[in-house]
Amino acid sequence: VKLMEYLVVGSGLFGAVFANEAAKRGNHVTVIEKRDHIGGNIYTKPIEGIQVHMYGAHIFHTRSKKIWDYVNQFAQFNNYINSPIANYHGEIYNLPFNMNTFNKLWGVITPAQAQAKIEEQRAELNLMKPPKNLEEQAKSLVGTDVYKKLIKGYTEKQWGAKATELPAFIIRRIPVRFTYDNNYFNDPYQGIPIGGYTQIIEQLLDNKLIDVRTETDFFADRANYLKDYPRVVFTGMIDQFFDYELGELSYRSLRFETEIKDVDNYQGNAVVNYTDAETPYTRIIEHKHFEFGAGNKHKTVITREYPKTWQRGDEPYYPINDSVNKQLYARYLNLARKTCPDVLFGGRLGLYRYYDMDQTIMAALELVAHEFGR
Ligand code: FDA
Repeated sequence: VKLMEYLVVGSGLFGAVFANEAAKRGNHVTVIEKRDHIGGNIYTKPIEGIQVHMYGAHIFHTRSKKIWDYVNQFAQFNNYINSPIANYHGEIYNLPFNMNTFNKLWGVITPAQAQAKIEEQRAELNLMKPPKNLEEQAKSLVGTDVYKKLIKGYTEKQWGAKATELPAFIIRRIPVRFTYDNNYFNDPYQGIPIGGYTQIIEQLLDNKLIDVRTETDFFADRANYLKDYPRVVFTGMIDQFFDYELGELSYRSLRFETEIKDVDNYQGNAVVNYTDAETPYTRIIEHKHFEFGAGNKHKTVITREYPKTWQRGDEPYYPINDSVNKQLYARYLNLARKTCPDVLFGGRLGLYRYYDMDQTIMAALELVAHEFGR
């Protein structure tokens, strides 16, 4: 086996898993990270004894036993189950849409009554043709009431556009459950690492063969990095890597406003979505509830999440996977293969995909298998 000198750009989950596996096989790895901390978007930091998710709520969930076992090597997980609540002008509903939601909306008791109510609302719409936009699509799936109170405002804030101007394909299906079950995810494995996510990244990068440099931007010295390292794993934005020469990929950004409150319990749940159009934020996270009320009993930490149009310099939280962007990404990938075969693109930004944490780990392990053999 030939040992290599690797540069990993980005200390998020993808970069850290790759670095860990490369070092385990005897390779030297330098990890550079432009932020002042490791961990990328899963970074958590203790405030008032509460693990604060600094880049939005992160709930680990997976279908894969293999990935669950993998991640459990680095932390002990609690049995947190995501059951968000929707606040529509002060009316509270359970999510995902289930019998509790329907009971609160219409007073229905049985699944048959709920199904009949949705059917009645769909029939009233007289939808003959395929839906022209997101509004028609959503109404045709769940009827008018659920759409109006729980989907419309939230979606319009999320995308920064009117539901009648958004394409129907954004919502292919809407999970509707005719049981009294508030568990948001269907996966068999779910939880939050006790003590936060950052410890996972710390352990992944804890190897004598791994050097980590934070506050170090690849683009500040890109020519030298490419000269000095025979192999580069790049987990930043692929369009930026090529100086946007084929054009900009689109992203949605977010702004987080974190606040310490002098109460033990501010909203009674980890995640509350604001589904009306008037509230400018889409949700409030109360971090201590991810760990069943851990931390200071007289304080709590909340974060408001505001959607934001992405501009250069903003954090690109969500890739926008429409057909125009997918095609542009494919052209960048082609360019990469032709001009720099020793740079491997990975992670959410390098692959331009909305990956959950389990998928990110899976993708990193696939790259490892490709690079080193199984
Ligand atoms: P990530 O973006 O974390 O890391 C990339 C790193 O590269 C960053 O640290 C960045 O600073 C660095 N970088 C970029 N350019 C650089 C440069 N030029 N030089 C040096 N460093 C550079 N998943 C899930 O399973 N459950 C959940 O509940 C959630 N929730 C959630 C909420 C929000 C708001 C977001 C945005 C995402 C989630 N996710 C999630 C997804 C999860 O965050 C994601 O799967 C992983 O963080 C992806 O890890 P990456 O390493 O790919 O990217």
